[in-house]
Amino acid sequence: MAGAFKAPIVAALAVAPRHVELVIEHPELSMAAPGQFAHILTPGMLRRPVSFSRIDPQRGRAGLLVQVVGQGTAWLAERSPGEWLDVLAPLGRGFQAPDPARPWILVGGGVGIPPLYSAWERWGPQHRAPACAILGAREADGILMAGDFQGAGLLPVLATEDGSAGRRGTVVGPLEEWLARYPEAQVMACGPNGMLAQVSRVAAGATGPVQLAMEQRMGCGIGACLACVVPATPVGPEGPRYRRVCTDGPVFFREELAWSWI
Ligand SMILES: Cc1cc2nc3c(=O)[nH]c(=O)nc-3n(C[C@H](O)[C@H](O)[C@H](O)COP(=O)(O)OP(=O)(O)OC[C@H]3O[C@@H](n4cnc5c(N)ncnc54)[C@H](O)[C@@H]3O)c2cc1C
Ligand code: FES
Repeated sequence: MAGAFKAPIVAALAVAPRHVELVIEHPELSMAAPGQFAHILTPGMLRRPVSFSRIDPQRGRAGLLVQVVGQGTAWLAERSPGEWLDVLAPLGRGFQAPDPARPWILVGGGVGIPPLYSAWERWGPQHRAPACAILGAREADGILMAGDFQGAGLLPVLATEDGSAGRRGTVVGPLEEWLARYPEAQVMACGPNGMLAQVSRVAAGATGPVQLAMEQRMGCGIGACLACVVPATPVGPEGPRYRRVCTDGPVFFREELAWSWI
């Protein structure tokens, strides 16, 4: 159940050029799950959705790692500890917990990385099978939270399109290699639609569940305005059905999405 509340900012850290992580605190955040998001009021604009980058249920704290792309995210990035945010959270359907006995591949692109870190933070300690985090971006500055993964016991595989960090190329190469080794793996991914389409294609032969967290432009964030719909299965003679990223997602199983229509 989501709540509407005002939450103080307890920390604000510049983590990379144009990227700031805010930590907010409120008892409602104890209920937040990896893959869910907060919808945050930005003055004079619609609310802006941001995933949880880390969740501390004991203290009711959650991280929001924001990349500045426009006015709303620029406003968020200028906030300081002691200021308050007007928040609707936790929203949406998050990741389903992984099977601790099955290999687990996390694939994140850019600001799609933070929700995957919150999944590893929550479920990594109980995981008994091989695991891997593949983090990709155009350039080194866009690779987020690599140190957090490492600190939490998972050395990430990095891929940048310009070769400035890790392997040159996209996340697809390392994903193919891991799936060739562990075809029974379960996959969780978040990133731009183009990356998710590739992950969906490459993971089509995987026997484990493939969960994809979509980032779509949003209006209300609570299922009322249909601004965020994505084409979904089944696809009938009149086309696909549509599902709302804000309430039916943002996390979907790969077979729920009609990729040829996205
Ligand atoms: C469920 C969900 C979780 C998200 N989590 C994060 C997160 O953890 N960290 C983060 O930095 N961002 C996240 N986003 C994206 C973030 O909400 C947008 O970047 C933000 O709303 C842009 O607002 P703005 O006013 O700064 O930019 P605008 O002026 O609204 O847009 C600037 C540019 O960004 C594009 N854009 C805006 N929103 C999106 C979007 N949702 N997807 C793709 N392109 C978009 C616009 O088309 C435009 O080109 C998430 C989005 C969703 C739906
Ligand atoms: S944002 Fe309004 S229905 Fe999803």
